[in-house]
Amino acid sequence: MAKIIRYLFPYVAHHCGKRALTTRFMRGFISITSGYTLEPFDAASPYFDEVIRIYREAFGGEENAIRAFIARYANTLPDWRGYVALTGAHVAGMGFGTRSLPGQWWHDRVAVEIGADHPALQDAWVLVDLAVRSAYRNRGIGAALLETLLASQPCPRALLSTEVANAGARRLYERNGWRYLHPGLVFTPGQQPFVVMGCAINSGE
Ligand SMILES: CC(C)(COP(=O)(O)OP(=O)(O)OC[C@H]1O[C@@H](n2cnc3c(N)ncnc32)[C@H](O)[C@@H]1OP(=O)(O)O)[C@@H](O)C(=O)NCCC(=O)NCCS
Repeated sequence: MAKIIRYLFPYVAHHCGKRALTTRFMRGFISITSGYTLEPFDAASPYFDEVIRIYREAFGGEENAIRAFIARYANTLPDWRGYVALTGAHVAGMGFGTRSLPGQWWHDRVAVEIGADHPALQDAWVLVDLAVRSAYRNRGIGAALLETLLASQPCPRALLSTEVANAGARRLYERNGWRYLHPGLVFTPGQQPFVVMGCAINSGE
């Protein structure tokens, strides 16, 4: 109950751009009427196995490799934040990220393309993955996970990449104030290009 109250009555409105407190209030209201709640998770969480399943349903990958990949973020990288969306006992979606720092593969690859001094790369948190199970999509869970992750992390700006072809995800991010930093970066030769997006969080940028 305390969590629900906290979600309904947040004391600060965090978001890309200048999202009003009322939007967050409405989102809290919708989350209750649609029957989901959000909970933090890490690699020791009882939700971790389901997080791995959701990741694999959305993006594929071998189970042990994905487990090691997410656990490395959760256990070793700074400013880890992970949330699951729960509908009753079901895990319907998840999202996580960490601080984006020089020396990390993703950060350095983006820095080569847009410049290491680009303001978007300074003091930034990267949303590594966000996924909602297909049966639970289109009811605001993705947006709620995104908003809660951004509100919980400590940086004034955030970053992400998603496939150029992923129109649904791009709409979600655009609608929530994210802007394009790169129109189509090929991280791994032979794979799909990814847009790189950034957003400022309550900084007026
Ligand atoms: C991208 C993704 C996370 C979005 O999750 P979601 O829970 O469906 O997101 P939302 O419900 O917040 O928004 C999706 C749509 O539902 C609509 N919607 C939100 N609440 C709604 C409601 N109560 N009733 C009807 N529609 C609603 C939104 O307006 C949005 O519409 P759009 O498709 O026209 O943009 C999900 O599609 C997914 O997991 N995709 C596979 C993995 C992926 O691509 N991840 C992102 C890249 S890292």
